[in-house]
Amino acid sequence: MYQPTLYARSNAAQRESVSRVLREWAGRLRWSREEQEAVLDVGCGPGDVTAQLLLPRLPSSVRVLVGHDVSEEMVRHAAAAHAALAPRLRFLCTDIAARDLPATPLGAFAQQLQGFHKVFSFYALHWVADQRTALRNIHSLLRPGGEALLLLVANAPMYDAHIAMQNNPRWCDFMQDAYSFMPPYKRSTDPVKDFSAELQQAGFNIHACKVENFSYRYPTMQDFADSTMVLNPFLKRVPEELQTTFINDFMTEYQREKGKYMSMVSRQELERNDTTLYHSHLLTHVEKGNQDVS
Ligand SMILES: C[S@@+](CC[C@H](N)C(=O)[O-])C[C@H]1O[C@@H](n2cnc3c(N)ncnc32)[C@H](O)[C@@H]1O
Repeated sequence: MYQPTLYARSNAAQRESVSRVLREWAGRLRWSREEQEAVLDVGCGPGDVTAQLLLPRLPSSVRVLVGHDVSEEMVRHAAAAHAALAPRLRFLCTDIAARDLPATPLGAFAQQLQGFHKVFSFYALHWVADQRTALRNIHSLLRPGGEALLLLVANAPMYDAHIAMQNNPRWCDFMQDAYSFMPPYKRSTDPVKDFSAELQQAGFNIHACKVENFSYRYPTMQDFADSTMVLNPFLKRVPEELQTTFINDFMTEYQREKGKYMSMVSRQELERNDTTLYHSHLLTHVEKGNQDVS
């Protein structure tokens, strides 16, 4: 997961999805004409989405955009790769689920700013098991009246493929904790209801919360495999001489598991052993009420 250069080369699907979301949503947020706003990107990874997709969508009045990530490697890479855009764009290392947020670099910076006006997060929050603390922290990082646009994976055949692999005696020893890498709402029968409940518990007013299906066709099977393997938490545990077999087995399971997502996948695509990545994501637009003082 923490391979910034490789990830930035293999995230075409995420970039396509974020571009679509920003095209539709960036202009819907309330941007101030008078105030120089401060914006945060939670779980920015290698910073390419922050610098190349988010920053150009922000009004020129935005005085600072902060990308932050739990991974020091990601933050180091992002800061070096986008140094030319500093100090308007800067990167900090902090866990969004930190129990003592004010003591972290992000918490301290937010205090100096008196809070962020906007928070964005793309494809990061489903990695965070402690949703309650993460959402409460996002709420506390915002100014009263501040808005957040959050995009996270709800479900994907990739995770079913992990479980199928975990049940395979050949791979089970490397994947005993497969369930701890599942998106938090994967097993929910109503992800919108469950995520909305967490958002409300954190203190947010919800303007929109929905599940959308997304698919992206990679040019080749190799591109598809590279993109899924860069995020695969188990591959590095597998001895090098077995890694190709592991990847091939994963791809076979993935094709099989796609069949369970018939609303996302046409029968025709299933039959073609195609190179399409599928997931459903949760997209939400929330606001911190004006009366909030947390
Ligand atoms: C799939 S990458 C997404 C990167 C980028 N937002 C994008 O859209 O390409 C997920 C990122 O979330 C980060 N992440 C995971 N858990 C986190 C946490 N608790 N706090 C902050 N970042 C986290 C990971 O380190 C990783 O860089």
